[in-house]
Amino acid sequence: MTKTTGLDNGLTNYGDLDFARFLRRSFARSMGISQELLDRPVVGIAMTPSGFNNCHRYMPDLVEAVSRGVLAAGALPRAFPTVSLGEVFLNPTSMVYRNLMAMDTEEMIGAQPMDAVVLIGGCDKTVPAQLMGAASANVPAIQLVTGPMSTGRHKGQRLGACTDCRGFWAKYRAGSVDSDEIETVEGRLSVTAGTCAVMGTASTMACIAEALGMSLPGTAAIPAVHADRLVAAEESGKAAVALIRNPIRPSEVITERSVENAYRVLMSIGGSTNAIVHLAAVAGRLGVRISNARLNAISDETPVLVDLKPVGEGYMEDFHAAGGMGALLRELKSLLHLDTIDITGRTLAERLAEPLAWVDRKVVRLFDDPVSTVGGLVALAGTLAPDGAIFKRAAATPALFESEGRAVVFTGLEDLASRIDDPTLDVQADDFLVLQNIGPHAAGMPEAGYLPIPKKLAQAGVKDMVRISDGRMSGTAFGSIVLHVAPEAAVGGPLAAVRNGDRIRLSIARKRIDLLVDDAEIKRRLSEAVPPPKPKRGYKALYRNTVLQAPEGCDFDFLTAENAA
Ligand code: FES
Repeated sequence: MTKTTGLDNGLTNYGDLDFARFLRRSFARSMGISQELLDRPVVGIAMTPSGFNNCHRYMPDLVEAVSRGVLAAGALPRAFPTVSLGEVFLNPTSMVYRNLMAMDTEEMIGAQPMDAVVLIGGCDKTVPAQLMGAASANVPAIQLVTGPMSTGRHKGQRLGACTDCRGFWAKYRAGSVDSDEIETVEGRLSVTAGTCAVMGTASTMACIAEALGMSLPGTAAIPAVHADRLVAAEESGKAAVALIRNPIRPSEVITERSVENAYRVLMSIGGSTNAIVHLAAVAGRLGVRISNARLNAISDETPVLVDLKPVGEGYMEDFHAAGGMGALLRELKSLLHLDTIDITGRTLAERLAEPLAWVDRKVVRLFDDPVSTVGGLVALAGTLAPDGAIFKRAAATPALFESEGRAVVFTGLEDLASRIDDPTLDVQADDFLVLQNIGPHAAGMPEAGYLPIPKKLAQAGVKDMVRISDGRMSGTAFGSIVLHVAPEAAVGGPLAAVRNGDRIRLSIARKRIDLLVDDAEIKRRLSEAVPPPKPKRGYKALYRNTVLQAPEGCDFDFLTAENAA
């Protein structure tokens, strides 16, 4: 008689289940595990160490701590590897491989015998990939993050990857920092294990995982090197065992209401634009879609309360010391759906009924004393972006919010690299820089939407310009940057029709981005557009043939909820 839990879960099919059980247990014993432990329920631990992922350097310690918690609570821990994505080590961009990691995670959760799973990720695309995979596998799951880096120091100034990377690089380009100093700074930006030290994409996704209810309360911001990070790992292991006894599946945690809570948190932390794409993909796995109109309503109602770079001043270690997500959620309480549950089975109302610890109000502001009265991100629509675009108003220059400019167009990354610093480039400070063909189909949507200010303007003191593309930008970046223009240029979006000298109008008040060229002329230009060539083989061909546009999270068309079994 076979069980359907623990190692007897999902027996290999040889046409004889008892033989399959016999064979599996025999092979399991070769791992040197006692019979008593082999009989226990199993918690899988999706681990993502890699020699190409500095952000996951402490993964072995975290796996050990999760295992300790699982054993203490009476189950058998089994760690298994999946794809790992180290943001800066991947070409053309980690975004191309997020869906590969999501598929790997989903399939390995489903194919291997586990009753619950702890997912350990951190670097930008890893947490979205794990949440996407877990949502589709729908096995009880807990997200544990590796935690943020601690800051370094340079000439008395705190430094953290990677807002300060960009700040120093801009000064180097402008000539105010020399090559010796930039080399010194290179060694002082990323000084510990962990994810980028500011409210970039990794930190944003950690906060979103907790807001969704997929991580243990209070764990999003614990620094990677803090002892509490290991305690959080141990507690996650114990909680996974509790989930076996009282199963709560990702589909019960990730709902329309918890996704709305996650958007509230995204707005209030001044979070990364990338989270809009990732949250759409995670929610899309369960059939939840939040419209741009709803996103804008949430943004207009939700103040920015967390004062961290790139929007403000602090670093993630400050957010943790200030009270972290518990402090933030209490300030947002009147705007949240309090009946949502987390993976412990508690409602948000129950969590927030606990007494409030000390809060550093310099970092987590009171609702009535916000960093900004409105949320960090807005969705735009208009003739240049019929299916939408994203603008991070919290990290932009207000003087450019209502502006009109002359387009200076780059047709792709190579064109940008070859001409942006050309002294003869016809460009002025009030022009709009337009970069085409870096959308999901054309280029995998790299973080190249943060176009550099042309050197001759940077050296003249220009710090910000309106920049527009169908790509993304790093969550650690800042500036008046219109991203995720959809449809992208490569699939016939109007962005492909922009030519040097065209006029473009941006209005954040009206949430519009318009190409001031008449419709017939746009159509004529688009009819002449030549789509970029398609890869013919392997994963890149699969990616190109099935990837959706940014508003659908750049997921693969066959992985969304509509295609669930
Ligand atoms: Fe990994 Fe920034 S490079 S989080």
